[in-house]
Formats: sequence, C-alpha cells, structure tokens
Amino acid sequence: MHRTYVCIVLIFSALVLFSLSSPAASAEDGAALYDSNCVKCHGADGRGDTPVGRALKAASLVDPKWAADDSAEAVVSAFRANPKHKAMASKVSDDDLRSIAVHLRKLASVQ
Ligand code: HEC
Repeated sequence: MHRTYVCIVLIFSALVLFSLSSPAASAEDGAALYDSNCVKCHGADGRGDTPVGRALKAASLVDPKWAADDSAEAVVSAFRANPKHKAMASKVSDDDLRSIAVHLRKLASVQ
C-alpha cells in the first residue's frame, strides 16, 4: 500500500515538473528567437542595417506595417511568403513568429 502511494506521488511530481518546464511563448522568447533567426539580416535594432542585410536589401522591421499592435499575423504571412526566408523557414514556427512580432513592437517603441 505504502509503496503504491509513493509511486503515485512521484509520478504526479514528474508531471508537474514537466509542465513547468515548457512555458508558453513570451516577449523574452521573441527576443531570443529574433536574435538567433533574424538578426543576421534584419539587425539588432530591426532596421536591416547589417552587411548581409544591406547586401540582400532586407526590409526594416520597425516599420508600423510589422510592428503595430495587431501585426503578428502580417509578420507570419509576409515572412512565409518571401522567398528570401526559404532557407530558414522551417526553423521557426508560426507561434515563434508571433512571439517575434511582440519583440518587433518593443524595438519600434525604443527608436
Ligand atoms: C537571410 C537573410 C534574412 C533572414 C535571416 C531573415 N530575413 Fe526577413 N527579409 C530578408 C530580406 C532580404 C527581406 C526583403 C525582401 C524583399 O524586399 O523582397 C526581408 C523581408 C522581411 C519582411 C517583410 C516582408 C515583405 O514582403 O515586405 C518580414 C516581415 C521579415 N523579413 C521578417 C523576418 C523575420 C521575422 C525573420 C526571423 C525569423 C527574418 N525575416 C529573417 C532577409 C532575411
């Protein structure tokens, strides 16, 4: 009897720990995702002013078109539609792009 109880407690704790270790998307995730997937071309400030960004003519992402409060879906579809993103399109999910959109708003607001 006692053993069964210990077992149940252990399984329950494992489940709680597992659910805590996968938090929902947040602005911090957006910043990290942006840094690892977009900075090379669009730059840390979102203006596309990097050597690769200038060479490819990367768009400024601090434009209201991409950084407005309701622009998340526009970022997702424009990112997916643009062939310049083909090589890295499979590395980011639509939810990742929505988190990145939140980060773009932050970048736009500090300029
Ligand atoms: C390999 C370089 C590169 C990377 C990495 C990159 N982009 Fe771009 N992006 C571009 C270029 C170049 C353009 C401009 C394309 C054009 O004008 O046709 C662009 C344009 C855009 C646009 C505007 C699309 C449009 O049609 O006007 C959005 C939104 C965008 N990028 C989002 C992102 C996001 C979000 C990431 C990271 C997940 C990212 N990009 C990573 C090169 C890149």
